[in-house]
Amino acid sequence: VFHLGWFLSYQVQSWRGQFSGAGMTEWVKPDLYVDVANSLERAGFDYLMFEDGMFVPDSYGSSPDYYLRNAAMAPKHDPLTLIPAIAQRTKNIGFIATVTTTFYPPYLAARMMTSLDHITEGRVGLNLVTSHNVRTAQNFGLKEQIQHADRYAMANEWIDVVSQLWDSWEPDALVLDADGGQYADASKVHTIDHEGRFFSSRGPLNTIPGPQRRPVVCQAGGSPDGRDFGARHADTIVAQVRTPEQMKEYREDISRRALEHGRKPSDIKILFITSFVVSDSDRHAQELVDAMDADEAANIEGNLLAMSYSTGLDFSKFDLDGPVPDITTNNAKATTKMMLEGEPGATLRDIARRPPAALRFHGTPDSIAAQMEECMSVAGGDGFLVSGEVNRRHVAEVADGIAPALRKRGLIRSGYDGPTFRDNLLAY
Ligand SMILES: Cc1cc2nc3c(=O)[nH]c(=O)nc-3n(C[C@H](O)[C@H](O)[C@H](O)COP(=O)(O)O)c2cc1C
Repeated sequence: VFHLGWFLSYQVQSWRGQFSGAGMTEWVKPDLYVDVANSLERAGFDYLMFEDGMFVPDSYGSSPDYYLRNAAMAPKHDPLTLIPAIAQRTKNIGFIATVTTTFYPPYLAARMMTSLDHITEGRVGLNLVTSHNVRTAQNFGLKEQIQHADRYAMANEWIDVVSQLWDSWEPDALVLDADGGQYADASKVHTIDHEGRFFSSRGPLNTIPGPQRRPVVCQAGGSPDGRDFGARHADTIVAQVRTPEQMKEYREDISRRALEHGRKPSDIKILFITSFVVSDSDRHAQELVDAMDADEAANIEGNLLAMSYSTGLDFSKFDLDGPVPDITTNNAKATTKMMLEGEPGATLRDIARRPPAALRFHGTPDSIAAQMEECMSVAGGDGFLVSGEVNRRHVAEVADGIAPALRKRGLIRSGYDGPTFRDNLLAY
């Protein structure tokens, strides 16, 4: 049995598609996300995860023009603000919002997440990223982005401070004795007096522990430093790979690192980012995929865009028929490495015309379910993070097509195990 999550990156979803409805304007209000969350809950998803980045990109084409013309990566809401509205109208599904350890002060984040833990009745989590680009840094008063290794050193101290704040109230600090006239016991609420390399915070937190106490911690960075951070602190890791062999390698690596940090590998659920091309017949799905793969111009544009996003460099400027640029980046190291790897002697065109870098399954719902089963049996793993447009047609293909087919094969949950997100994530 494996877990499912949904990765929501573009909020202004496929606004030119035939099935996007009013997605171009509707995305600013909660109803679209509420519909999506209801569908995913019916399907038994563990979580809906919101990507985030706090900048308007301008690397590809050396200008924000492409991004704003296409509503690509911007604009978007702060995901934390969407969660209460969606939580009110769902019961079981968990929500993960991306939070940057580089720019969110630990006290603000600890408090915000604890408040959200109450408001969602124990269904919130945070995806910890270090912010991989200079534009975000410039939005927060820096001239340059902090070095990659320092960002992860900061991230480690950040989660340590946040964890101390979450623990600043002992479990029995709340007395709730109206007759005796005592709300809380001050002797059980402690300062943390943290003075570290990057942060200092006195504490205690000025709100009471939430239903989960520690909201679910998710992690996304794939470099050695990123993986180590995930193995130490995460309850769930989201990862991007191309093949089942890479899934297996990733999982073994995280298990090894988790053991080094004194954790059980089974305490960390690794979900691999996946997309689907669904149709009524395998033949038609194959035709759709063949057409997508044959659209070299679109693939090249998509990949150059992704390379520019990960490195902050303008990949539209490199010669497509020249060698793959030899780049060291301070940005998203792991993603850059994966996108730029290729056969010796490959040109930029050779690697850029490949399909997008992630697992992709295609066919009828049942044949997709069979492929996912096969993939898991080869690679092992805890589940998949579905990345797709949140137009309601595609969400229905997954929630009412693929999920029931997976359930019929006994591969996904048929109900929720416990009241909290953590209970469900760690149930198996
Ligand atoms: C599935 C997935 C989701 C991610 N989501 C975000 C995100 O929401 N915000 C962000 O700034 N980075 C996100 N990243 C990028 C990572 O934070 C990280 O920069 C990247 O994977 C490179 O890893 P590294 O930082 O360890 O070099 C995501 C990465 C993956 C694989």
